Amino acid sequence: MSYINFNNAGASSVTKSTLRIIKNFLEFENNVGGYNAEIRYKKKLDEFYLNTSKLINSDLNEISFLQNSTYAWNFFLNSIKIKKDENVIILDNEYGSNLIGLINKNIKYKISKINEDGNICLKDLKNKIDTKTKIVFVCHIASQCGDVINIEKIGSFLKKINKNIIFVVDACQSIGQVKIDVKKQKCDILVGSGRKYLRGPRGTGFLYINKKIKSLISPFILDIKNTLLKKK
Ligand SMILES: Cc1ncc(COP(=O)(O)O)c(C=O)c1O
Repeated sequence: MSYINFNNAGASSVTKSTLRIIKNFLEFENNVGGYNAEIRYKKKLDEFYLNTSKLINSDLNEISFLQNSTYAWNFFLNSIKIKKDENVIILDNEYGSNLIGLINKNIKYKISKINEDGNICLKDLKNKIDTKTKIVFVCHIASQCGDVINIEKIGSFLKKINKNIIFVVDACQSIGQVKIDVKKQKCDILVGSGRKYLRGPRGTGFLYINKKIKSLISPFILDIKNTLLKKK
């Protein structure tokens, strides 16, 4: 490598072993074709789900592969019904693309304050929550500043107020450097990208969906493979 990368918040360089595995896979795929390579590497590819679930303390089948955090976040948003009179809450550090997602769908949103010391103002959050609040979105670490939001505190706080409020965490900047435990932190949805602190390749990310809220999710895209599997 001819440079020192200080920008893991943008994209890290992959580890030597990751680079070797990707190169080997691409060469193998080029020789035998995509489907054959998939069959040959199935066990290895499936480790994605196992390793991600271990990393965040979830079940294996609560993990979906998506190409990045933005897709994962929007996949969730477009797969859940939010009624016209319902609202969602974001913090004032929300990631720009996520906000665009809400605006594009005309979803009513309220912005909850973060104090000057970087902690969430729970009083303001409580005031913003009403009986029509469906989701609270939290950006764990914003890309524009380094404050780490205490998601465990927010998770417990929310579930005490109303256990049906869906707690969504954007862990794009935290996964790989801050401990995530979706059970302890009471997250229902969590998204992350591979290319930052996980030191994975670009084009990798994940969506965690707590099995308790699975029945509320109706995936807005189903490919033929998923559909056939479901009907079996
Ligand atoms: C907090 C946060 N969320 C989401 C994203 C989007 O990540 P991606 O480009 O992998 O979708 C970023 C990117 O920097 C981010 O900092």
